[in-house]
Amino acid sequence: MADAQDVLSLCKRRGFLYPSFEIYGGVAGMYDYGPLGTALKNNIIEIWRRLYTLGEGFVEIDSETIGPEVVFKASGHVDEFADKMVKCKACEEPYRADHLVKDLHPNAGALGEKEIDDLIRSNNVVCPACGGELSTVEEFNLMFKTIIGPGSGRVGYMRPETAQGIFVNFPNLYRYNREKLPLGVIQVGRGYRNEISPRQGIIRLREFNMMECELFVDPEDKTWPRFGDVSSETLRLLANDGRELEITVGDAVEQGVICNQVLAYFMWFTQEFLKAVGVDGERLRFRQHEKEEMAHYAADCWDAESFLSYGWTEIVGIADRGCWDLSRHANFSGVEMTSFKRFDEPREVERDRIKPRYDKLGPMYKAKAGKIGKAMEEADPAAIADGAITVEVDGERIAIPGELFDVARVKEKVSGVRSVPHVIEPSHGLDRIIYTVLEHAYSQKDDQTVMRLSPTVAPIKVGVFPLMARDELDDMAMDLDQELRYGGIETYYDDSGSIGRRYARMDEVGTPFCITVDYRTREDGTVTLRERDTSSQIRVRFADVLNVVRAALCGADLTQFVVEE
Ligand code: ATP
Ligand code: GLY
Repeated sequence: MADAQDVLSLCKRRGFLYPSFEIYGGVAGMYDYGPLGTALKNNIIEIWRRLYTLGEGFVEIDSETIGPEVVFKASGHVDEFADKMVKCKACEEPYRADHLVKDLHPNAGALGEKEIDDLIRSNNVVCPACGGELSTVEEFNLMFKTIIGPGSGRVGYMRPETAQGIFVNFPNLYRYNREKLPLGVIQVGRGYRNEISPRQGIIRLREFNMMECELFVDPEDKTWPRFGDVSSETLRLLANDGRELEITVGDAVEQGVICNQVLAYFMWFTQEFLKAVGVDGERLRFRQHEKEEMAHYAADCWDAESFLSYGWTEIVGIADRGCWDLSRHANFSGVEMTSFKRFDEPREVERDRIKPRYDKLGPMYKAKAGKIGKAMEEADPAAIADGAITVEVDGERIAIPGELFDVARVKEKVSGVRSVPHVIEPSHGLDRIIYTVLEHAYSQKDDQTVMRLSPTVAPIKVGVFPLMARDELDDMAMDLDQELRYGGIETYYDDSGSIGRRYARMDEVGTPFCITVDYRTREDGTVTLRERDTSSQIRVRFADVLNVVRAALCGADLTQFVVEE
């Protein structure tokens, strides 16, 4: 298996990743993408985006990365988004407490403060850096706080997930979707978490890239129209009761291992996306969170984990967030966050209604009595507290005592039902996916490193070389290079060093094909096309190259293009 240090050093040397602010000594948990890394990242984003928008009909938005405090109070992050931390009493180095005891417990991430503390003391765990004694475990909130506006301004936070930007826009997006569910919304962007001690390259960053999907569904109907198409596909699961299963999507739902069709469908969808960009299916599984491990908002959660030199690592979290987020934002903002499901036929229902006593309201509230009465009629009797119902009229909240109304059981025709949609969320850590793709592609062939990146994500698709940088071979190769680039294919022109060295340079950055213009090209107008993983070569016509490359990138059979020797 590839070693992380080898992968990271290649990434730095060849322009995939640079430690941020390196000339100033760098900052832990911060990385920049170089030219090849940026291209790889964009290619992965584009595949993901197309699968969701073109494949599933989802819409994409782009929301702010800073938000006012109330948003993250409502989402629960200000109060609950914390990890457990210990510090070395001697050198003051901070550590994620659960990470320090990960070899002492099968799921240290699910343990409470006291349990981790006990493990540290009973196993005499000390500071890995200096051997010093560790402090007691405490909670550390991961939110980056800031001030919006000048002076004392207004407290704001950098978003820890892109999801909240979608939730707060739910009323707009629901209207945009012509008030229909399901409604799928995706967003790609930065998330910020003040991680306690980021150490593993781009696995744990303080500013990172996310691709998130929030799928709003009817809470009463978590079936999925295309579920039948994938029900015989297989998933590798590690359930929170300890069972390891290779199971079909259909059986997983039928046996209650995965709680509903939507969650199961998008676990399969995530698996297919990950494999399409180059995550090795043999090193991929879904692990279910334990109850205590679940985020504050989640009703069920499965992590897609890839096997890396760091061990099994979460790369995508797929959660059933229930109605948590929309209900909280409705409570904090006072704005309704519901959907309306129209029945095929109006139905008669019995329910309790508040009946204002207008004879008493009038004398008491005078001109306002009419508006107050109407608000009372619309209020839900379940909201009666201490015998009074509170209504809002012209911005004023008024508590109406029980003697001013009755509660009566009435029969009504209703045309539909309002409810708070539930959310299924596949949340992708883009940097972790990128790292997985790089590590799984990393291989050695005859002492050379070959990045076996899939052609769809490879930053450079074709290396173009003249055998010699003279005798018009270079002019012909440059023409070919330009034709490919104008045809939408990323190329790299290289005329220096031996052909072997040039192939090796392209292999190392994952370029799937190389084309060489040689002396025979001048005679018969053919060039060689070499494939990275097999090193096999074919000769094709100079004039056909654009079509050949397009076909090769799709994995098509190239026999029809081959020119006989
Ligand atoms: P972890 O347990 O590793 O801290 P998490 O459970 O907090 O991760 P989520 O909140 O589910 O992660 O975030 C969604 C996705 O974002 C994760 O699956 C992961 O791929 C990615 N992610 C989370 N935190 C980071 C980070 N600090 N750096 C890079 N990617 C991250
Ligand atoms: N949106 C999922 C998470 O960041 O936890």
